[in-house]
Amino acid sequence: MKAKLIPVLILILMSSNLIFAQKPSIIPEPRVWENRRGNFSFSGNTDLFLPHGHEKMKTTAEFLLVYLERIPGVNVQIRYYQQGQELPTRGIVLAVDEQSNIAERYVIDITSRRVLITGDDERGVFYGIQSLRQLLPVELEQPGQASQLRNVRVSNIYIEDYPQFSYRGMHLDVARHFFDVDFIKKYIDLLALHKMNTFHWHLTEDQGWRIEIKKYPLLTEIGAWRDGTLIGHLRDQPHQYDGIRYGGYYTQDEVREVVAYAAKRHITVIPEIEMPGHALAALAAYPELGCTGGPYEVAQEWGIFEDVFCAGNDDVFEFLENVLLEVIELFPSHYIHIGGDECPKTRWKECPKCQARIQEEDLADEYELQSYFIRRIENFLLTKGRNIIGWDEILEGGLAPQATVMSWRGVRGGIEAAQMGHDVIMSPTSHCYFDYYQADPETQPLAIGGYIPLSRVYEFNPIPLDLSEKEAKHILGAQGNVWTEYMKTSDDVEYMAYPRAIALAEILWTPNRKHDFEDFTKRLNHHFRRLDALNVNYFRE
Ligand code: ACM
Ligand code: ZN
Repeated sequence: MKAKLIPVLILILMSSNLIFAQKPSIIPEPRVWENRRGNFSFSGNTDLFLPHGHEKMKTTAEFLLVYLERIPGVNVQIRYYQQGQELPTRGIVLAVDEQSNIAERYVIDITSRRVLITGDDERGVFYGIQSLRQLLPVELEQPGQASQLRNVRVSNIYIEDYPQFSYRGMHLDVARHFFDVDFIKKYIDLLALHKMNTFHWHLTEDQGWRIEIKKYPLLTEIGAWRDGTLIGHLRDQPHQYDGIRYGGYYTQDEVREVVAYAAKRHITVIPEIEMPGHALAALAAYPELGCTGGPYEVAQEWGIFEDVFCAGNDDVFEFLENVLLEVIELFPSHYIHIGGDECPKTRWKECPKCQARIQEEDLADEYELQSYFIRRIENFLLTKGRNIIGWDEILEGGLAPQATVMSWRGVRGGIEAAQMGHDVIMSPTSHCYFDYYQADPETQPLAIGGYIPLSRVYEFNPIPLDLSEKEAKHILGAQGNVWTEYMKTSDDVEYMAYPRAIALAEILWTPNRKHDFEDFTKRLNHHFRRLDALNVNYFRE
């Protein structure tokens, strides 16, 4: 009897729009939602109302307009209303909630007459649009498929939403392998779809320097290219190389283009310029900046290299400050990431200049020399109104006074920094390394190692339990890292990043009490169709 009843019930529910209990398939899941009876139908002349004179809202509205314009038979007219007066009662309305003091908040209020999206400002409206987008048919993601749609409707619903963390990030290493601007834009688009707000662009490494610096042209003429790349895994012996010249870099015009593209999508781009370690590509270009003077070669294999920037040579600081001057012109981000991880002290121990610096500055050892290095760079950036982020090694030898710590070797560094009153971004290898295997390695393309399946990402709580409430406020959020030693193509990057980045996005946006992995995977299964439409090469178990 049950078996017979279910299809009948489903039919009744579908025909009467009585699907009250069904959760909207939105990722990250909204904080509050309530289905309502009826639906809004997109047809004929549909007015899109914007607040008069609000230029940023106009830019944000374009992200809705692309979808509306793809709906067959719909003719969208943009109209303006005066802020402070009654909102239009029909059509699609974008509005600012002047009373809201919650950053990134939005409300979607859909009735049969009106789709109203209200935001704390245009950023909240942008997130409202991303949610509405997920309520619309996936066919609208592709102009070709959209033309087949008939009677596009959206069920009436009320949604109230804002994120639990202010830093929701994804990183991409473009140095081990290089990815062109088109792909960087696609990567950013996917972050925006999932309400992430930060793109950490890892631009310099031993294996390549990827950003044009006008004052130092050799950084890209020499440093952006290597004469070959390791074949297979680093642990495979003996090492073999493909002998193929490999490289690439972003011009400053391209960087500006990416930053502007991201800004329109309410994504901050944080550049990372690595120091004092992971600097071989820069040293290959300017060998006088190393302790031994070289010669150096852009690395063809992965790992940690002993040749790093000399900490005793003032020319190194002059060089880095000049590089950073160009970087801060290109990136308006409050933060500049200066790396700081995995810097061997071997060369410093033997370098007369580094040893002289230790003496002059009354430093205890090479760890304090690293701390001196980072503080000196921090001081410089502070005079330009910027703050540094560094990997958790910057705690060693003493933390720079205003640094934000990105905790990657577990969460200990993050805990320590938060207890010292520093801001922290969690990105531990236990949950956030999307270069690790996501399934049985036997079934997967070669990766660096580790094992972080989707469920493990979803279990992540960026706030360690040992922090007090006050200390916990220093945890700004978390970030997924995509190191690309074993990702040669953009398809490889998408495969490793998705869907794990989506799990992280939900963890960071949706309040903990609503986290439910089973429910997430149900919504994800639905969401995969959207990723298909967007040509995302995600991994599916
Ligand atoms: C890192 O993974 N070396 C920050
Ligand atoms: Zn030195």
